[in-house]
Order: sequence, then C-alpha cells, then structure tokens
Amino acid sequence: MSHEHHARTFDQWAADGLDAEMEQEHGDVVRQVVARLALQPGEQILDLGCGNGWATRLLAKAAPGATAVGVDVAAGMVARAEERHSFTIRARYEVASFEALPFADARFDRAFSMEALYYAVDLGRALSETGRVLKPGAPFDAIVDYYKENPLTASWQCCFGVPVHWLSEGEWRAEFERAGFRELRFERVVDSRGPGEESAFRPSHCYRDFATWKAIREAGSLWIHALKGT
Ligand SMILES: C[S@@+](CC[C@H](N)C(=O)[O-])C[C@H]1O[C@@H](n2cnc3c(N)ncnc32)[C@H](O)[C@@H]1O
Repeated sequence: MSHEHHARTFDQWAADGLDAEMEQEHGDVVRQVVARLALQPGEQILDLGCGNGWATRLLAKAAPGATAVGVDVAAGMVARAEERHSFTIRARYEVASFEALPFADARFDRAFSMEALYYAVDLGRALSETGRVLKPGAPFDAIVDYYKENPLTASWQCCFGVPVHWLSEGEWRAEFERAGFRELRFERVVDSRGPGEESAFRPSHCYRDFATWKAIREAGSLWIHALKGT
C-alpha cells in the first residue's frame, strides 16, 4: 500500500469535513493527556498525523515559547490546518509521511500523536523515524482508540479505507522497543463527557447501536508513553 493511497483517502476525509469531526471526537481525551504532559517552556514538539492541526496548536500553547510542528501525509489536511492557523501561535504544518520525516536527527524535545499511528504504512519505519528526530531520552506520547483490548473496535476495520494495525498493548510495546524506545507505560483515558443520552445517539458504520458506542467509549483511549533510548 502506497502513501499516495493514504493521501487520497485522507484528502477525501478532509473534503468531507471529517477533520472537524475528529477534533470534536478526540478533543476531550487529548486535553486530559496534554494537561498531564508537563510541557516545558521552549519545547520543540512534533505532532504526527496532525489532521487539521487542532492538537498541534494546543501543544504549542501548552508552555511558554513552545513550538509545534504537525505532519500529515494528506495535503488536504494540511490545507485545513493552514486555514485554521493563528499567527499568534508558534505552530506550523508540513505534508510528510511518518516513514520519511523531513527533519534533522535529534530535532525535537517530544513527539505526540492522536489516533494516527496505526495508519502507518510501515509501522517499524515510522517508529524508528520518530526516534531518529527525537533527542535522546525525549518522550513520545501516542494515543490510539483502535486497539485489541477494546474488542468492539474490530468492526471499524471496514470503515478506514486503508490497511491499519490493530495491536494489543503487548504488540505496541514490542514495536516501540524494537525501534529503540524504552520505559513503555500504558494507560486508558476515558472521555469525560461519557456516552451521553441514548436518545441523542445516531448509528454509524463504527457504532451500529448505542450499546456498542457505550462499551467502546467506556473502555477509553489507549495512551502509550515511551522514551527514546539514550
Ligand atoms: C484519524 S486522523 C487523526 C488526525 C488528528 N490527529 C486528530 O486527532 O484530529 C489520522 C491522520 O493521520 C494521517 N496519516 C495517516 N497515515 C499517515 C502516514 N503514513 N504519514 C503521515 N500521516 C498519516 C492522516 O492523513 C490523518 O490526517
């Protein structure tokens, strides 16, 4: 599977307005995690799979003088990020794949990714590239909603339009460690808005009924924390 196919697929997502839906869907969990990252003044942050850049901007605002760079394989997503950009925020966006990051070695103090890493065409390469652009000992915090310990997410397979990696915590650990990361830590983060009222629920490909939506929501997002080896 090529990056061109990923780019076309996610360009269409952007054209259909799904970038804004993701911001709404992922915002609560990301805010919870970012609040706990203790970002330091002046940090240089990489946001992998930035979509319309809402989390890139959130990261850039999380500490004085911090700068964030979002990368995304889809030019349509980066165009959305540029449209929403504010020049008072130290953030910028680049079209690039996880597997070929256009940055010098040890360029960043931290990496972040929301609900994007499992789309990697070559996951091993994506992780080793991320490690390459991080300083020794720098943290990488990745969040995924699609993982094996949340078993009802298996049904999402039909909706992605590109091949994906559906991994367990143990499999994520092995992938990160193979790429040179260490001190792996896993945590579930539950959206503080809860599942909401059943009367407001609308079925979709991903959530065929309210019980499925509620179970997936209550299992939470998987937060993967790792440090680049020194
Ligand atoms: C589900 S969206 C999440 C976007 C954003 N993080 C958010 O939460 O709104 C996944 C993003 O990853 C990007 N992506 C997928 N595979 C990629 C790859 N191999 N390299 C770079 N970006 C990729 C897609 O274009 C898409 O914008």
